[in-house]
Amino acid sequence: MALEPSRALADRAGRAPLPPGPHLRWWGLELLGPMQRDYLGFVCGLQRDWGDAAFTRIALERTCDVFAPELVRAVLVDYADAFVRWERGAAILSQGFGRSVLTSEGETWKRQRRLLAPEFAPARLQGYAGLMVAAARRALDRAAPASEAAQVEVEALMTALAMDVVLRTLFGSTTDEDAAQAADAVQLLSRVAAREMLLPATLPDWLPLPGKAAKRRALRALTALIRRQIRQCRRAADCRDAPAHLMGTLSKLRDENGRALLTDTELEQHCLVLLRAGHETTAAALIWWCRLIAEHPDEARRLRDEVDRVLSGRDPAVGDVPGLAWVAASLQEAMRLYPPVAALMTRRALREVQIGPWRIPRGALVRITPLITHRDARAFPDPEAFRPERFAPGAAPPPRGAFLPFSAGPRVCLGQHYAMLEMVLVATMLLQRYELQVPPGEARPELELGVTVRPRGGLLLRFVRRRDPA
Ligand code: HEM
Repeated sequence: MALEPSRALADRAGRAPLPPGPHLRWWGLELLGPMQRDYLGFVCGLQRDWGDAAFTRIALERTCDVFAPELVRAVLVDYADAFVRWERGAAILSQGFGRSVLTSEGETWKRQRRLLAPEFAPARLQGYAGLMVAAARRALDRAAPASEAAQVEVEALMTALAMDVVLRTLFGSTTDEDAAQAADAVQLLSRVAAREMLLPATLPDWLPLPGKAAKRRALRALTALIRRQIRQCRRAADCRDAPAHLMGTLSKLRDENGRALLTDTELEQHCLVLLRAGHETTAAALIWWCRLIAEHPDEARRLRDEVDRVLSGRDPAVGDVPGLAWVAASLQEAMRLYPPVAALMTRRALREVQIGPWRIPRGALVRITPLITHRDARAFPDPEAFRPERFAPGAAPPPRGAFLPFSAGPRVCLGQHYAMLEMVLVATMLLQRYELQVPPGEARPELELGVTVRPRGGLLLRFVRRRDPA
């Protein structure tokens, strides 16, 4: 692709250089193997060898990885209009996420975002808190026997719990069977999507190959579930008269002529994206938080003290959240160390831009890897340590661009307030019931990259019932 320097840059004294990067033979094809074997290791290697930004080229595709907070912020916020989502990533995600606010661009994106944003405004979230608490109570009370300690598979617990929450907030109610089926389908699609994103091209889904059949089955199961829920919801009185859940509100939206704003297909796509974006991410954050809390008993004690002081044993409500500041700080610190969307936030440059000292050519990809940016020692001293006080009340906010679990700029996560509310409520209720312990000899699990980052092989922890639940 020819380089076309922007007017602004051409007016300056010469163009800025490209970021540094490895000398590649074979058109960079030698990078494909390492990327697919261990993508996170590969990107960490680029940062270790080249610093704040690195340039690579595979065949005709040029890629700039940016790691330093100020460069990341420039891409996501200052020059947001110069970038669009990477079209291949969006195409892969839209197979499972539907053509929706997550994957669209331009006017379609603006319209969809405007439509959905009020549903995720803090004031609207109050209505969901009760549903979240009910789901958490049910899952956590059943997690371990009433009087003893038990080994709990935390990934399964949190995935099912987060799915239960999102299905209830979307449709008002759900069954265990639906939640389990949807969670299995989403996990499979997430693994497939991450694999496909690292390949230069993918074979069509209709091919009679074993992997493709599983993917088709998962997509069919999710779509069928959503259609069934929409049908049931339409029949139910609360959907018509008093929309207490998202599906109810969305299906009641009307234009100035009284016509439904969303077709059934659009409604399905919105439900699909919210179901997927809204459960995998919160589950991932809570899973890693559990592991960190189990590893740091002193921090856990401080959180239990806060929870007991604020709630004296009752269930939390929205009004309690501001008083649970250390719980929120511990969740933010967990997302700093293990950002659910850890990598592959990829954009394509629509025009040439200068980011810090570097030139990003028009048409190049820019990759952002929160997992690396979040561990920048300039922004977070002793970056590998779990220190909730970094986010506690009164702490200085992290430098701009250094902490982006929910991304930043115009495409910032639509569900960030919903997610924080859900996570604070779930974490609080867990702290009220259990002390978490790492089973003897159980090493910290490795990271497995899907659409979110999960512990490879799951996560086993000991849940010990608190003797004197507050
Ligand atoms: C801990 C939980 C969550 C995390 C870490 C998270 C993270 C993110 C990130 C990083 C993005 C931007 C991706 C990119 O720019 O490439 C994003 C976008 C989005 N998220 Fe979340 N998310 C979470 C929870 C949720 C929830 C609960 C919902 C909804 C129920 C949601 C809905 C969305 C939507 C619709 C977008 C697309 C926004 C747009 O492009 O305009 N997320 N999320």
